[in-house]
This record gives sequence, C-alpha cells and structure tokens, in this order.
Amino acid sequence: MSAATTIEVSPKVKGFLEKPIRLLIDGAWVEAASGKTFTVENPATGEVIARVAEGSSEDVDRAVKAARAAFESGPWANMAPTERGRLLWKLAELLEAHQDEFAQIESLDNGKPYTVAKVADVALAIDLFRYMAGWATKVEGNTIPLSGAPAGRYFAYTQREPVGVVAQIIPWNFPLLMAAWKLGPALATGCTVVLKPAEQTPLSALRLGELMLEAGYPKGVINIVTGFGETAGAALAAHPGVDKVAFTGSTEVGKLIVKAATGNLKKVTLELGGKSPNVVLGDADPQLAIRGAANAIFFNHGQVCTAGSRLYVHKNIFDQVVEGVAEQAKKIKLGPGLHPETQMGPLVSSEQFSRVTGFIEVGQKEGAKVLTGGQRHGDKGYFVQPTVFVEAKHEMKIVREEIFGPVVAAMPFDEIDEVVKSANDTSYGLAAAVWTRDVSKAHKLAAKMRAGTVWVNCYNVFDAALPFGGYKESGWGREMGHEVLKLYTETKTVCIQL
Ligand code: NAI
Ligand code: MG
Repeated sequence: MSAATTIEVSPKVKGFLEKPIRLLIDGAWVEAASGKTFTVENPATGEVIARVAEGSSEDVDRAVKAARAAFESGPWANMAPTERGRLLWKLAELLEAHQDEFAQIESLDNGKPYTVAKVADVALAIDLFRYMAGWATKVEGNTIPLSGAPAGRYFAYTQREPVGVVAQIIPWNFPLLMAAWKLGPALATGCTVVLKPAEQTPLSALRLGELMLEAGYPKGVINIVTGFGETAGAALAAHPGVDKVAFTGSTEVGKLIVKAATGNLKKVTLELGGKSPNVVLGDADPQLAIRGAANAIFFNHGQVCTAGSRLYVHKNIFDQVVEGVAEQAKKIKLGPGLHPETQMGPLVSSEQFSRVTGFIEVGQKEGAKVLTGGQRHGDKGYFVQPTVFVEAKHEMKIVREEIFGPVVAAMPFDEIDEVVKSANDTSYGLAAAVWTRDVSKAHKLAAKMRAGTVWVNCYNVFDAALPFGGYKESGWGREMGHEVLKLYTETKTVCIQL
C-alpha cells in the first residue's frame, strides 16, 4: 500500500497529540500528583504517538472528591432534567462536528480502520448521547396503593434518584463508544463520574472530556483519570467515596472489581467476556450466513466481547459455509487503520498479539486444523491474519476460552437439541446468533439460548435503544436502553400518613 494514499492526519489531531495530555479533575486539566506520564503507541507501527498523565490513587482521590462535591451541591445538583438533556444533546452535536477527528484518533490509538471507526464507533457514540438526552426528562416513579392498609390512609410514591458518584472503568476495544455507553446514562440520571480509560487507548476519552467542558458541563461532573488498571483502576474500584462502579473488560478483572467493591458495598455492574455461539441451521441462506459469520468474528479484528467465535454449522452445509467464511477471510485487506482501503488493522497491543497467536498455536497443538490464516501479517505492528479453525473439539481451549482476536473455531452439528446443548455449554452468556429461514425455529432457538442478546439472521447489531449485557460470567446488569437507567438510580419510597 502506498503512503501517498494514506489519510492525512488532520492538524487538529496532530495538535492534540503533541501537547501534554493531562487528567481532567474538577473542571481543570492537571498533571498527575506523582508527575508521572506514560506513552501511547500506534499498534500499526509500534511508534509512540502521545504521552499521557499517569494517574494513581492520589489523583483518584482528588477526582472522587470533586465528583462528590459536584453531586451534592452547585449547578449540577440543582439542574433541571431538561438542562441535563440539553447538555447531552449538545455533546452529541459537538461530537458530530468533530467526527473525522475522533475517527482518526481512534484509528491511531486502537488500530482499527478509520472508515470503520467513523461509521461504527463515532456514529454509535453520537446516537447514544442523543438517545440518552431524551431520557433525562423521563426518569419517573410511581404512586402505589398500600396492600395492607385501608384505602385513603396513606399516600405512597416512589422516585428515582441518581445513585451518586460513579466510577467507570472501560476497555480498549471501542474506546470512545465504551465511554459513551457509560457516560450517557450516568449524565442523564444526574450522577457524577470518574472515568478511567484503558491504558492502551486513553486518547478519545480525553478529547471527549475537552468537548464536555466546551458543552458546558459544570466542574466535577466528569473527571477523567488515565492510568493503569492495577493502580488507578484498583484505587477507583475500592474507593469508599464511590457509590457505584461500572466496568467493562475481562471476567478476571470483573471478579477483582467485585471484591474491591465490598468495602463500602458500592453497586457494581459488569460487562465481561464472551464465547458466543453462532449457529447456522441447515435451511439458512448460505450466502447470508457466510457473510454474517465472517462479520461476527472478524469485525473489529475479533476484539469484541460478542465475537461469534464458535461457529456451529449444520453438517449438510458445513463445508460450503466454512469454506465461504475462509474465502471471505482471505479477501480481507490488512493494513494501517488510516489507509482508506484497510478492512482490518492490527491488534491493539503486543500483549494481545502474543495472547492471540498463543491461542492459535495451542489450537494446532490440541489437534484443530487451520483452514486459513494462522500467521502474523507483515513484520511490524501487531497484525494477525483472520483465522478459521476446523476439526475443533468442544474441550479445546480455542473453543472454551475467549481469544479476543480474529480466530473462529467451526464445528458441524446434526440435531438442533445437540447444538443448543453445545451452544450453552460455556461459562459465558453474552450473545448468540441463529441463521435460519424458518421463523418458528428462530423463535424457539432464541428462547433456548442462555445469552443476553440473540441475533437472528444478523450479527453485532448494537443500538442505543437495545439493552445489552450478559448471563452467567458475562456480567451483571445491562447497558443501554431504558433498562440501564435503573442501574444508575436508587428507588426511594415515600410513605405519608394522611
Ligand atoms: P482488563 O480487564 O485488564 O482491562 C479492562 C480495564 O480494566 C482497563 O481500563 C484496565 O486498566 C482496567 N483494569 C485492569 N486491572 C484492573 C484492576 N485490578 N482493577 C481495576 N481496573 C483494572 O483487560 P485486558 O488485560 O486489557 O485484556 C485481557 C483480556 O480481557 C482480553 O484478551 C479479552 O479477552 C478480555 N477483554 C474483554 C473486553 C470486553 O469488552 N468484554 C474488553 C477488553 C478485554
Ligand atoms: Mg488486564
């Protein structure tokens, strides 16, 4: 690919990357208390692209205090819901006005194609803020007749109040979008936030922080502390001044968050890993299923918690579908995210590169066969070829564990009952999909899948209005939709004797 056709990094993005990038605490950009910084690299080249303040427990403490003060008094505490909605809408407008810039930052920081970042990450984040803007004025309680008292003796009602100071710890696979999923409901309901982006990809959240100040969010409502999980993240999860922690990331760290939260029994919501089954029935449209199965695993390089990493195909069409997916895999253009023709960029970091290539090795050692891919792509950056495994068995690591890369294990099945059993035989339960032309089978299978989202004849469809989250070890609670508002509010019952 020639350098001449690479998308030019805009002067605004260059300017943003060149300046010292600090923490956002109490409405101001500040150095970390320790004065430390860490580097951010472009995973397509391994080059350092920015230097960011490294927050630790002292900074977390300052941020939590600022969030507490903003929650309890000042303009945010007294703001009309319409005004909170207006601020969210304004943030969406600003994000839209700067969408190219955000798509570039996301591509440089995470590695994903610029073109994908623009239509997926940035567009969905804008939509999320608009959707949540509308909810700010619709957080309501009920009036409730008492069951055991004579009519008219008491008047009782519930109201929903913001849960308080919320810590939000997010991952690197969709840095801006994960910030939006978290911030939207918190700001709609009147909470205040300390956000900790992933150390691999802190940039878009920090740029978003600038837009939030521009939109007019009062100081302390949004605080952003960049830093590492074991230090800044752990300090936030354990902080006694935090009322709720919302986390997206690995199941392993999710369990640590739960333990850290026991000190003050803060509320916890978790969106964790997955090993999602993608089931193609014998009557499915094979071409639709092939494209869908490829998208299910290769979108965002497989770095998606819902990645369709276990592909179950009816034995009658197994060869056709799996070879079709392998053909699609071979056609995917790998390259730097800023090249306009790139369809798949590098994995996010050398750590993820080792993890994913390690799984590919183990898969082969355990007896699965690579139908296509299986190798590193190029000699710099963290590129891994889209990989399709066949002859995979249920007990293998590549079938049981989350790989978080462009690696799918395909397995044939005969009976529907048998595939339902295999699909649900996992400790995860985030998503599942079914491909069929039989509407009755589609509904029956959707009901049987133990997963928070079931897609039929589609995959990886996300929308601000659709609740999203996991069964089993894929998490606690839901994001998006109006379901999420419950998890950012407390219900207060007021009972009055008349
Ligand atoms: P991770 O779970 O360590 O990181 C996610 C976030 O948690 C980051 O902001 C990190 O700084 C923070 N964190 C890490 N340790 C923490 C701690 N002790 N206390 C509080 N916060 C902490 O994920 P990692 O290591 O980047 O990726 C490892 C694997 O996790 C991936 O290969 C993938 O399988 C899974 N993962 C799943 C994601 C999802 O969307 N469900 C997203 C990212 C990773
Ligand atoms: Mg980790």
